[in-house]
Amino acid sequence: MSTTNPQSDAQPDDVPRRARSRRTRPTEGTPAAAARSRRLSKARRRVANVAGLMAALVLTGALYSTLAPAHADEVGAAGDPDYDAGQEIYENSCISCHGSNLEGVDGRGPSLIGVGGAAVYFQVHTGRMPLVRQGEQAADKPVVFSDEEIDQLVTYVQANGGGPAVPSDEVASSDGDLALGGELFRLNCASCHNFVGEGGALSSGKYAPSLHNADDLEIYTAMLSGPENMPVFGDNQLSPEEKRAIINYIQTVKEMPDPGGAGIGRTGPVAEGLVIWLVGMSALMFGIFWMGSKA
Ligand code: HEC
Ligand code: HEC
Repeated sequence: MSTTNPQSDAQPDDVPRRARSRRTRPTEGTPAAAARSRRLSKARRRVANVAGLMAALVLTGALYSTLAPAHADEVGAAGDPDYDAGQEIYENSCISCHGSNLEGVDGRGPSLIGVGGAAVYFQVHTGRMPLVRQGEQAADKPVVFSDEEIDQLVTYVQANGGGPAVPSDEVASSDGDLALGGELFRLNCASCHNFVGEGGALSSGKYAPSLHNADDLEIYTAMLSGPENMPVFGDNQLSPEEKRAIINYIQTVKEMPDPGGAGIGRTGPVAEGLVIWLVGMSALMFGIFWMGSKA
């Protein structure tokens, strides 16, 4: 677009104006000169308006082109190498149970729409997925995929299904408030995972596993995705700060050595004493009766 266009568009009857005015330039101060300068300033305003509009358009375009690809990177789309690689892994290892559009397959696997990258990270990074045998609770197994491949799977499922994304390492760190973490853990997690995260049995053959092998991001994504019978702890239930506090608690108690003897689920000194007393007394009584029968 040329900036002279609006000038001639606006005043089509004024085309020969410049040529004429150059030849017979009126002297300053005459009415003709005033009229001419009015016309010119009107034209200048139009040019300025058009220039302003163009600048705005260029700016919008520039903004769009810097923001749009960044957004696409984050979500992933066909053509993004991570997405394409993720799709390939998905089609080789997951599609038979979760369907070609993440919609799930009857009797094989649930839909992955809306579970989010967090669930994928949790399931694949703990080795639960790809599931080998149907029917049992998916257990921790040696991990099948590299971290890079897991990222690719996460990108693919996140882009197609949406849902809670994998948080960054800073968000999912274990630097939360330890005391608060202990309190929240006892309130929200201990009923299934025991007070120190050692796990325990649930009804109908299910179990809550020990948390001692889980890393920070696995704990965080477990809370975000709520595998099997475990409830989902979204950011409304437990803020990211509270999640970090819980992670700190889990990681701290697992490093504490059991003080003396076998750890009986760290149920405390009373229980430990009780066990010693019961076992010891039984042995004593047995000894007494045995000696009595010999006499
Ligand atoms: C043999 C069938 C099978 C295969 C193969 C399989 N899955 Fe699954 N998947 C399941 C079943 C069954 C469940 C639900 C049981 C469970 O959560 O323990 C499930 C659950 C999941 C979940 C949790 C969904 C939720 O609601 O939180 C995710 C995520 C997942 N699978 C991802 C994958 C990915 C990624 C792959 C490929 C690497 C894969 N699965 C391969 C059968 C399968
Ligand atoms: C209602 C019982 C229940 C509650 C409450 C619960 N969980 Fe779980 N949790 C489970 C079950 C069941 C599994 C195993 C799921 C599976 O194998 O697919 C599990 C698995 C996990 C795992 C994976 C461990 C691993 O490495 O295999 C983590 C981490 C975890 N839970 C953390 C938590 C935290 C943190 C809380 C509290 C905020 C919590 N859970 C509350 C039942 C529960």
